[in-house]
Amino acid sequence: MKIKIPIIIISLLISNLAIAVDGMWLPFLLKTLNEQEMQEMGMQMSVEDIYSVNKGSLKDAIVHFGGFCTGEIISDQGLLLTNHHCGYGKIQAHSSVENNYLKDGFWAMNKSEELTNPGLFATFIVRMDDVTDMVLEGVDDKMDKKERQSIIDVNIDAVKAKVSKESYQDVMIRPFFKGNQYIVFVTVTYNDVRLVGAPPESIGKFGADTDNWEWPRHTGDFSMFRVYADKNNLPAEYSADNVPYQPKHHLKVSTDGVKADDFTLVFGFPGRTNSYLPASSLTQVVNTLNPAKIDIRDKALKIVGAEMRNDEKVKLQYSSKFARIANYWKKWMGESQGLIATHAIDKKLKYETDFQNAVKKKRKWRKKYGNLLGQLDQLNREIEPYALKRDYYNEIFYRNVELLKAANYLKRLESSLEENGEEGYNNYKGRLEGFFSGFYKDYEPRVDRQVFLSLMEMYYKKVGKTEIDLYLKGKGLAKKDFLMHLGQLFDNSLIKSSDKIASLFKENPDKALATLKADGFYAFAKNISAAYKPTGDKYNEKKAEFDDLMSKYMKAQMEVFSDRVFYPDANSTLRVTYGQVKGYEPRDAVIYNPSTYLKGIVEKFQPGDYEFDVPKKLLELYESKDFGPYGEDGKMPVCFLGTNHTTGGNSGSPVLDAYGNLIGLNFDRVWEGTMSDLNYDETICRNIMVDIRYILFVVDKFAGAGHLVDEMDLVHPKIKKKPKKIKMNYGPVRTKKAKARIMKTPER
Ligand code: ARG
Ligand code: ASP
Repeated sequence: MKIKIPIIIISLLISNLAIAVDGMWLPFLLKTLNEQEMQEMGMQMSVEDIYSVNKGSLKDAIVHFGGFCTGEIISDQGLLLTNHHCGYGKIQAHSSVENNYLKDGFWAMNKSEELTNPGLFATFIVRMDDVTDMVLEGVDDKMDKKERQSIIDVNIDAVKAKVSKESYQDVMIRPFFKGNQYIVFVTVTYNDVRLVGAPPESIGKFGADTDNWEWPRHTGDFSMFRVYADKNNLPAEYSADNVPYQPKHHLKVSTDGVKADDFTLVFGFPGRTNSYLPASSLTQVVNTLNPAKIDIRDKALKIVGAEMRNDEKVKLQYSSKFARIANYWKKWMGESQGLIATHAIDKKLKYETDFQNAVKKKRKWRKKYGNLLGQLDQLNREIEPYALKRDYYNEIFYRNVELLKAANYLKRLESSLEENGEEGYNNYKGRLEGFFSGFYKDYEPRVDRQVFLSLMEMYYKKVGKTEIDLYLKGKGLAKKDFLMHLGQLFDNSLIKSSDKIASLFKENPDKALATLKADGFYAFAKNISAAYKPTGDKYNEKKAEFDDLMSKYMKAQMEVFSDRVFYPDANSTLRVTYGQVKGYEPRDAVIYNPSTYLKGIVEKFQPGDYEFDVPKKLLELYESKDFGPYGEDGKMPVCFLGTNHTTGGNSGSPVLDAYGNLIGLNFDRVWEGTMSDLNYDETICRNIMVDIRYILFVVDKFAGAGHLVDEMDLVHPKIKKKPKKIKMNYGPVRTKKAKARIMKTPER
């Protein structure tokens, strides 16, 4: 007998299901895992509109931009939209003090004015599939990790060889769920991507580092490029004969605007998250690693920032580098603060107690999983000193002191010659020439010297005393002479001079290496790097053990909590995340609205300031309320907030409405919520987007490049369904009772 349940009860049941909005989902699994929930949240399309291999779908308009950001195609002539901060390096490369596109903006008024960008590429996903069974064939639980990995490597090559694809396409296989699932991707990469337009920094980077990771936000963080193809619409290296790429699908643009609770979907290439770590890892991040990295960058940024404010040339040279260093410096601060504020560590501990209690109930789990957390905690304790020194070393020797980085790169000339003879030397030299060709244009030794001295002093105090004392002893120097000595090494180093490096590269390998070894700065960098090496090796060894255990812990979580639906951590592959437009309350009595307006730009305006200046034309448009068709009730919307779970790499991702139309451009998250990479919390995790209407307004009314708007398809999805009120209840993983399992957990 069939029992009929009244509709009303079903919908009550559904609305009381704990529904979370965190998660970065694989587009080809939406049907099984997410479609119902998405529709309950207001989505009006089907998941085949998002991802399909049989017909053009939204995914055909999404690209991995340069491998580090996301972009989307918004016209049938390959017009590409991404963030200003994603196009920044290229815009800067075309700029000089006389012709400063960062400062003044750039707009190609026709296709012949578009600028080429060697090295820039855009990758489309053709299709993806689960190949777990094939990749893990012949692998079992008893194998050690080496044996296991070698079988996996062989299998991966075999699967890749079998995948059918066109000659101009590529294939890659990536691990998910820490090596418990494998997905194959067929991709196609276009290498002729030209710069079409960028607003001035005073719009595209308005608020700069002060406003970065912050709400309320007023940044018009966008730039435009165009993908070119050969006459057959296939990928080709740059050629004047190339033509605009005709996409299988391009996004339609809705100017209807957004309001609180509207459904939003972000489609892009999130880089890296770590949602399933044990509490002991979070403790290490908060107590040890983040504070150290913040401290290092704090010192470097103070020095560089002061120089940039004093010197227009230094500002141009260092703006990109400064922004990169400042970005994660600030993110780590927000991350630590957010983890503390949301009691993330306590929540993880509670989750771990639940896990242990569940494991205890089954004999086979007790045996397999009973010790996992204990082992992970123990490894974290062992890893900590190595991880800390590694962070100091990498930050100082590779990220913050430019001349140390250059010296470290040069060092590999020696090993190339030893290992691969003259040919190896010449190959590596070729790559180095590439590095150095861009190095000096943006290098000011006066700035770098200060950073070097300040950070080496720190290295000595925090982690490098033993090796530096030994080095000084060898030179017959006292500790008090350390910084003076370093200053002399720096001043006399040939690496500072592009001419000297050029002549070094002209010499034969033996002579060149002899010259290099005689350079005191080079010798110092080499000495301290060699002293660091055992730490790096030890870290890698422990980290490999940790990853192996994490892979088991991941599998265990999915098996033990089999009624939950898990999403794989971000790994720079194409994902869908969805949510709603929503404000938040960062602390008691402070309430943030989800939208900002041009009025806020005028409020923040500081004439001549290096972060908050506003172009005169924008002020005039504000005064005359000349917003064209893009305004809303006499106001010009600028940015808005949503609950979409995003991370680095999602910058430039399209924000789509319930119908799949473009309504915004993702570019950031709020500071309080940057811990979403480790522990998403719905109360304070929000992503920040530019309203598409502001982008169109800037292109059309501000820049006078209306021909670009004419290229797009503007739509007005009139019938808008109000999304149902959904009770939100979140946890570290979703507790939705969807029976569909996310993946087959293969026995190993
Ligand atoms: N915080 C954003 C993201 O992680 C934007 C960074 C670029 N802007 C800046 N001022 N550094 O990438
Ligand atoms: N701003 C980031 C990006 O560049 C996005 C984020 O971390 O939220 O990808």
